Parts: sequence; C-alpha cells; structure tokens
Amino acid sequence: MALNYDLVILGGGTGGYVTAIRAAQLGLKTAIVEKQMLGGTCLHKGCIPTKALLKSAAVYQQVKQAANFGVETSSPLFNIEQAMRRKDDVIGSLHQGVEHLVRSNKIDVYEGFGRILGPSIFSPIAGSISVEYEEEKENDILVSKNVIIATGSSPSVLPNMEIDHIHIVTSDDLVEMTELPKSIIIVGGGVIGLEWASFLHDVGVEVTILEAQDQILSAFDHDIVKQLKRILMKKGISILEEAKIDTSSIDKGSEIQVTYQQDNEIHNISAEKLLIAVGRHANTKKIGIENTDIQLDQRGFINVNEHFQTKESHIYAIGDVNGGHQLAHVATYEGKRAVDHIAGISGSQISEQEIPSCIYGNPEIAMIGLTEDQVKQKGYDYRVDKVSLQAIGKAHVNGHTEGFTKIIIDKKTNDILGIHMIGEHVTELIGQASIAKYFDGSALEISEVIYPHPSLSEIIGEAALAVEGRKIHG
Ligand code: NAI
Repeated sequence: MALNYDLVILGGGTGGYVTAIRAAQLGLKTAIVEKQMLGGTCLHKGCIPTKALLKSAAVYQQVKQAANFGVETSSPLFNIEQAMRRKDDVIGSLHQGVEHLVRSNKIDVYEGFGRILGPSIFSPIAGSISVEYEEEKENDILVSKNVIIATGSSPSVLPNMEIDHIHIVTSDDLVEMTELPKSIIIVGGGVIGLEWASFLHDVGVEVTILEAQDQILSAFDHDIVKQLKRILMKKGISILEEAKIDTSSIDKGSEIQVTYQQDNEIHNISAEKLLIAVGRHANTKKIGIENTDIQLDQRGFINVNEHFQTKESHIYAIGDVNGGHQLAHVATYEGKRAVDHIAGISGSQISEQEIPSCIYGNPEIAMIGLTEDQVKQKGYDYRVDKVSLQAIGKAHVNGHTEGFTKIIIDKKTNDILGIHMIGEHVTELIGQASIAKYFDGSALEISEVIYPHPSLSEIIGEAALAVEGRKIHG
C-alpha cells in the first residue's frame, strides 16, 4: 500500500531534519527516509565529533600550560579512549535531542534506503520513493507531492588508491580510532586536512601535510594562511605544498611509504598512517537518479536552480549533494528556502558573501565575504586594515595573543567586502560579522557599536576603526 505525503526528504542529516521541521511547522505532512541515523555526517562523523576531539586536545594543551596560570599539576597524559568516549557522549545526547525534535514535530521517519522511482502505478510522475530495508521486510512506497534530496557527500579517494581503513584512512575512519598513530601523512591541505592536522599534532602525533596546489586552504585569505602556516610550522607540523603524491608507488610495510614530486624532484616519506582528505563527492549512487530527468554536473553533483529545484520541478536537492558550499549551515539554509518555495512563501535570499566559513583547529580561522585576492580580481577600489590580538586586553587575560582580524571595505560605498580572523575563539566571533553583513552594516556602524570590555569581541570594533583610519588600540 502506498503512503501519501506532501514532502518526503531523502536523508536525515542536519540539512534533512531541519528542513523537515520547517516543513512540519508550515503544516506539510512530512517524512524522512534515513538509512543510518538522524543527524547524518555532521552529527556522527563530521562537525560534532571532530570539534569534540579538538576540545579534548585544547584542554590537554591548556593543562600543559596550567603552571603559567598558577595551577600546579603533574605532567598530563592524553587518553584517546576517554576522548573518544566523551565524543560519543556528546553525539549521543545531541542525537537524542534530534530524535525528540523530529518526533515532537510529528515527522514520520523511515529507517531504510530510499530510492526514487520513475512514473509507475503509484504516480504518473517520477518521485515516489521506495524504502528498502536490510531486514526481511517488504519495501514501503511513499507517494509525495514533493521530494527533497539531502543525501550529502562522502570522502573522495584518489585514483588507483584503495582505502583499507587501517593504514590508508579517511576522516570517517579517524573519528572511530581507538589508538593514536605515532605519525601520519595527510594528503590534502583543505579544511578537513587542517583540522585533523591540528588535533593529531596537539595530542602528540607527528604530522606531515602534502598539498598538491601552491597553497594550503586556497579558498582562504592569503594573510590568514601565511600566519596559520607560520604558527603550524613553529609547532612542528611539516607542510609540503605543490607536492604531488604518486599513488602507484605506495608501499604498505610496517609503515606506509609514499613517493611525491616537488620542485621536479622525487621524494620519499613514511608514516604509520595516510589520511586522504582531498574533498568530498555527492551521494547520488543507487538513489534512482536514472529514473528521473534530474541532471548532474561534471563532478557528479545535482544541478539545481535558485530555489534548489532540480530539472524535475517537484524534486529539490539541498546541501552537499548539490555542489554548493559543503557546510552544514548552508544545507539548513537551503532546506528552509526549498520548503518556503514549496509552501509559496518568498523568503530572504542570502548571497554567497553572507556565508561564514570556519576552521576549528588551533589556531581557529573564520571568514566571511571576499578574500583580498578576490576583491582585487573583481576590480574593487578597496581599503584594508588589520588589528592584532595583541591590542585586545582579553586576549592577554586568556594568554592567547597570537592572531589578528583583517577587514576589507569598498572605498566608494564603505560596505564590508570581507572579514578574516585567526586566533582563539574567532569561530564564535565571526557570528557578529555575519549579523553585520546581513544587516548591510558599514565599517562606520560596526565601529560605533558598544562592545563589552574586556572581551575578544572588541577586535571587530577595533578592526572597523582601523579601516576607517581611527585606530585606537593596535
Ligand atoms: P577541500 O576541498 O577543502 O580540500 C581538499 C584539498 O586537497 C585541496 O586543498 C586540494 O588542493 C587538495 N588535493 C586534492 N587532490 C590532491 C592530491 N592528489 N594531493 C594532494 N592534495 C590534493 O576538501 P576537504 O578538506 O576534504 O573538505 C571537504 C568539504 O567539507 C569542504 O568543502 C569543507 O568546507 C567541508 N568541511 C567543513 C568543515 C568546517 O566548516 N569546519 C569541516 C570539515 C569539512
């Protein structure tokens, strides 16, 4: 028997379940089909577990420096098993919360694999969903007026390389590790590579990053990346750029031997593990795309229009699977906009430059808007200035004065083009820049805001004063 819905969401990750709640609030009869657990990559393998582990590493580092603050301790030890247990507890309580939210919003959850069907006896148009179960149970057929694909992404691998999950691993394997390796080579100096490099180094692992491009974190501002590299290399992380790994020559003995090319020379390095962090691909396999007119781009992501509709106008795709920014907060934003479109509500459109990006390592990085290189490429007449955390009283109180905030404004309009931050807690502070960008605040307005003293938030006001030519501190 077919079950009828206004909306079926394929995938109950952060994008999927938040979208479902929004739909239920608008009175749509909604179901989620999820093959694993509500919360998806963000809650179980990505954002939350990695940040929980980074917190454990930060506490370890803080305790090591406790004597500076007048707190005498014996020499601390990092216990990976306990860090993993705490990470699991954090996931567990958030997962319970998500299940409660979904239940209390009266959203039906089908715990199986969802596949989109073509036109059939159930519906004359493509988009009914067959839910397939692992246990011996008949498939359910969900007939829905609308479908949102929110199936996310998975770690990409390199050609001719097999992930054995022991020596050659992805971030999915590391969130479950039971012991720390002595050393690791991280292929890919992007967001995932850098967060793992930070965690692993800070808990005592020898880390080498191999990045194919001429700079790690190519999407971030060059001044921020320069400072980050200085800090990471001073800590002892080895960063090799324009280094091309030869995947045909990987040798798995007691250690992994890797050959790479840099400056036209061939080099060899070895480590206990090799982490592949070279991007993520869309989860579109076996979900029945071939039964529809939905089109994929060359990289395999689902093509959508500005309302997140695919070529089949009643089937939407949100989050990582559509090839936009692979960020949980982008997935939830897109999901809410898609549901508003289904319900005929015209919501506010956010531009790409209002999306913050963060890296939660040590040090933290946060940005919103354009980098200085992008501002130049777009031909803006701009002004830029920076304020060091050295100028901020609270940074001295906290004992973390390394880092700065850089602000770029349009000389003609005084509009903020970009804010780039590095240092302690900047992933919290960037929220203020998001609000300023959303309300189209100018540097003058940001400089006039009253920030509590002493607080790290003062750095945003100081940066705005600096770019206005009215610097007080720094
Ligand atoms: P990424 O695209 O950020 O970085 C991949 C890096 O690997 C690039 O620098 C690329 O040049 C390099 N690379 C590619 N092929 C290579 C090769 N053969 N040898 C050496 N280097 C190679 O992808 P990443 O780090 O895997 O992250 C995936 C997505 O997940 C990103 O879009 C990221 O924004 C998102 N994410 C966001 C987080 C956050 O907001 N804090 C945390 C984790 C992931």
